[in-house]
Amino acid sequence: MPNVVLKTDKSLFDIKDTALFFNLKSVFLHPVELSKESFFLRLYQNGDRIIIKLEKATMPKITNDLKSYIMNFAVRIKDNLNAEILHHNLNATPNPPVELYDKYEITTAAINSVEYINSLCSNKNVSLEIGIGSGEFITDKAKNNQKESFIGAEILNSDFNIAIRRFDKANLNNVKAIRYDARAVLDRFKPNSLKNVYLNFPEPWFKHRRIKHSVLTTKTAVEIEKILSKNGTFDILTDNRPFAISAAVIIESSTSLKKTDKYSIRITDENIKTKYEKKWIKYKRTIYKLQYIKENETEYKSPAKFDFPVNIELKNRITKDYVLKILNLYSNPKKDEKIIEMAVGYAKNPQHIFLGFKKGLLYLLPQSNFVINSDFVKAISMSLQ
Ligand SMILES: C[S@@+](CC[C@H](N)C(=O)[O-])C[C@H]1O[C@@H](n2cnc3c(N)ncnc32)[C@H](O)[C@@H]1O
Repeated sequence: MPNVVLKTDKSLFDIKDTALFFNLKSVFLHPVELSKESFFLRLYQNGDRIIIKLEKATMPKITNDLKSYIMNFAVRIKDNLNAEILHHNLNATPNPPVELYDKYEITTAAINSVEYINSLCSNKNVSLEIGIGSGEFITDKAKNNQKESFIGAEILNSDFNIAIRRFDKANLNNVKAIRYDARAVLDRFKPNSLKNVYLNFPEPWFKHRRIKHSVLTTKTAVEIEKILSKNGTFDILTDNRPFAISAAVIIESSTSLKKTDKYSIRITDENIKTKYEKKWIKYKRTIYKLQYIKENETEYKSPAKFDFPVNIELKNRITKDYVLKILNLYSNPKKDEKIIEMAVGYAKNPQHIFLGFKKGLLYLLPQSNFVINSDFVKAISMSLQ
């Protein structure tokens, strides 16, 4: 993440220009609105060091413009505090041009639009890959199936950037990708709408402590079943046998999906060139495949409607299933509003979000970047006044 470290014998509280910040005790938030990107910078002090960091939950595209904004801002703070810059990672790098994002990225704002998602899945020739990594598999699929469309989800910026460059190099017009946690977006797809869902090598580090981060859970399995169309398949590749077994148990115990083979787990020698598959084949590791088919349509329920602003009672609400937890409330003496940082949504995997807050009203800021899924709506509903 872009960051700058300054050295000074002064304090962040010595900065005269209070309009720059919202703060909570000694943590400061600086809202930024550039022409294409809106985000927060987070500033805090550790002894004689001041750290300025991009607030990653606001998830802007990391462009050279963004880096140069942060650098200029850091210089402003440096001058204000008579400081010196000790370290930064803001040198210009060859990032994908903004036009590539415009062409290939599905933003969270688009995901939040029912019309957009419905139009995206308007025919039954759309497939989803969860965790595309650097995009080899989805590019190969899109190239070889020009009449179909493919959507990828990838949580890591660096991998997402490599993937969209690959799409561009292959001159693809039938692929798009979501730069967000796939677990939050599954619920936004229209039920009975996807031809295939692919999950390739999701768990290279399948360890007990990582299970809570796993993409495949009983909840996501049920959501995948819901969005698959009738006769649509859910395909998993893995080199990790314990993961293969756990995936079979999860799917077979929580959904009505049917395995397409006599055995749940088969050894595959299919020629599917994902980065990890190539790697594991080189090390002569066995690759396992699981495939499940959806035999019956799911009952269609229209997606939850949700409009900001909302009038909420500002209080933590935590149940077994849902959470609305106020992490921080930042204020600015010069502005009649606050910024609220919250964990909202499914209790085991809430979204980390920022919203504006004024006189009991919660409203969207340009920096807000999250998905309004059913878990989000249920969590917020616990606090509606
Ligand atoms: C081991 S890599 C496999 C990449 C690719 N599928 C392949 O086979 O080469 C797993 C990928 O899943 C992504 N990932 C993990 N959890 C995710 C989530 N919740 N949402 C979206 N992507 C996720 C990781 O960032 C990583 O790129």
